[in-house]
Amino acid sequence: MKKITRIYKKFTFLLKNKIDIDNQNINVSSLEEIFTFYGTDKATSVKNQYDVNSNLIIGHGYSKFYEQHFSSFRKLKFNLLEIGTWLGASSAAFTKYFNEANIFGIDRNFKFKYKSKRIRFYNCDLTDVNELHQLEKKINEKQFKIIIDDGSHILSHIIKNLLFFFKYLEKGGYFVVEDFNAPRNYNYLNDSNNQELFFDEILFNIKSKNYFKSKILTRSDQKFLFENIESINIYKGKHKESDIAFLKKR
Ligand SMILES: C[S@@+](CC[C@H](N)C(=O)[O-])C[C@H]1O[C@@H](n2cnc3c(N)ncnc32)[C@H](O)[C@@H]1O
Repeated sequence: MKKITRIYKKFTFLLKNKIDIDNQNINVSSLEEIFTFYGTDKATSVKNQYDVNSNLIIGHGYSKFYEQHFSSFRKLKFNLLEIGTWLGASSAAFTKYFNEANIFGIDRNFKFKYKSKRIRFYNCDLTDVNELHQLEKKINEKQFKIIIDDGSHILSHIIKNLLFFFKYLEKGGYFVVEDFNAPRNYNYLNDSNNQELFFDEILFNIKSKNYFKSKILTRSDQKFLFENIESINIYKGKHKESDIAFLKKR
């Protein structure tokens, strides 16, 4: 039944009219302005897109950290992958910010509403093993200079995403994890049952190359991360749950 529903959703998604951003002149240039234009909560102040009836202004204030790490990539040709695209606001924004990059996005829903020659959307529920296999075939041999996890923010998913996607990161590339302390702040995002450390503790241990208890990351996974992560930069955004990490691959 799930498969049939998915085929139906995929079919209606393909037929759906999307906003063609290649022909859209947005007249703004900084990443903060572009994030704000498309309405992603990576910006500092945007209207709450999750509730159309709300006038609440939200935003994590992550633009300056993205600019700091990636402004020199603006004219480069490379691949960027974002886990968790929702409406596609951040995918659209990155397409406009990075003039030459190909932007790939993954989401379990079909709400993506933009199109561009440089955007590729993959529908995948990352918790479903079969869908993950299909995704692997589609990603194939691709390597990404930037991978961003802005998915479910559930603790086990954050850890599994790092483990699974890190191999697709090119040398010198960045793995970005948004809102990584959300499971500390919201109990419903902490599914670890005391089997996993919080992600800030995991980052600390990776930085100091200390082996730690984990049901997900084996000792050899940890060794691999110790050896292949060159640096970890952590920043605080605007809100209590706004924590972002930039992991650079050696
Ligand atoms: C915070 S939203 C992404 C917002 C988007 N990056 C932006 O800046 O506008 C998180 C997204 O992760 C997706 N997601 C949650 N769990 C997922 C899973 N298991 N597999 C794939 N996507 C998932 C949700 O459907 C949702 O669209």
